[in-house]
Amino acid sequence: MTFHQTHLLGIEALRPEEITTLLDLADRYVDLSRGETKHTDVLAGLTQINMFFENSTRTQASFELAGKRLGADVMNMAMQASSIKKGETLIDTALTLNAMQPDLLVVRHPNSGAVDLLAQKVHCAVLNAGDGRHEHPTQALLDALTIRRAKGRLHRLNIAICGDIAHSRVARSNLILLGKMENRVRLIGPPTLLPAGIQEFGVEVYDDMTEGLKDVDVVMMLRLQKERMDGGFIPSEREYYHRYGLDEAKLSHAKDDAIVMHPGPMNRGVEIDGTIADDINRSVIQDQVEMGVAVRMAAMDLLAQNLRARRANAA
Ligand code: NCD
Repeated sequence: MTFHQTHLLGIEALRPEEITTLLDLADRYVDLSRGETKHTDVLAGLTQINMFFENSTRTQASFELAGKRLGADVMNMAMQASSIKKGETLIDTALTLNAMQPDLLVVRHPNSGAVDLLAQKVHCAVLNAGDGRHEHPTQALLDALTIRRAKGRLHRLNIAICGDIAHSRVARSNLILLGKMENRVRLIGPPTLLPAGIQEFGVEVYDDMTEGLKDVDVVMMLRLQKERMDGGFIPSEREYYHRYGLDEAKLSHAKDDAIVMHPGPMNRGVEIDGTIADDINRSVIQDQVEMGVAVRMAAMDLLAQNLRARRANAA
């Protein structure tokens, strides 16, 4: 087995073979999840704690379901109502949880780097469920699985990532993953929503959708992350939709069989036309959600195998 990680903190640390190992296992978990008995016991006896310091619907539900399908004992910490509100630091919270002997800790946090910090303080496997603008590795992996299944491969594809790239950990993790797997990635968005130093990533940058979408295989739309903006990044939502929102006319420049993706939650009529999002011949947005559960099952399975091996060696 090629997967040597202790934690899943970002795509940065993964080698291409590790990504392939994880996606291959995830394919098997798609089959399991489509069957009648959606259950194995590979995590039986292990405790998984989900700590979400930022709102989440699909990611948290997906991790919870993934853990349950693998037979773990899953606990969701309601962080809004927790001691954090009383001023406890992230590290104190982590140490308290560590004392409860979890085996897998799934963490989402508004600060970039917070999950890495936490991983240094605990004795279990930590999975990053999104930290600030930094990384969201399971999202990039589920996107990769969705693309691989739809296109039959995960290399030499032309992929456009569009919209609010500056604030997006999804864009960052995807950029790293798709680059590692040797795809051509283009970024399309207004200059105000592109991160500084983007040239270093070796990608093509466009501020015009018509030009940028020409002949792409995959169109990945991003949510306009208003909660991370502190002022005038865009003139107005109407203007933004006009220039950068994905509609039929703009999509017609992509390849005829191009797929449309969005990590959710979607702002219909802001970054994407609702009809395109719902078009089952183009949009794979629901597939992304399905692949999310399978990819998280695979990630937790692999990390738990490594955790058990480390413990056996230490004993
Ligand atoms: C993304 C996130 O939280 O980073 N959502 C998700 O995990 N499905 C993207 C977003 O919030 O726009």
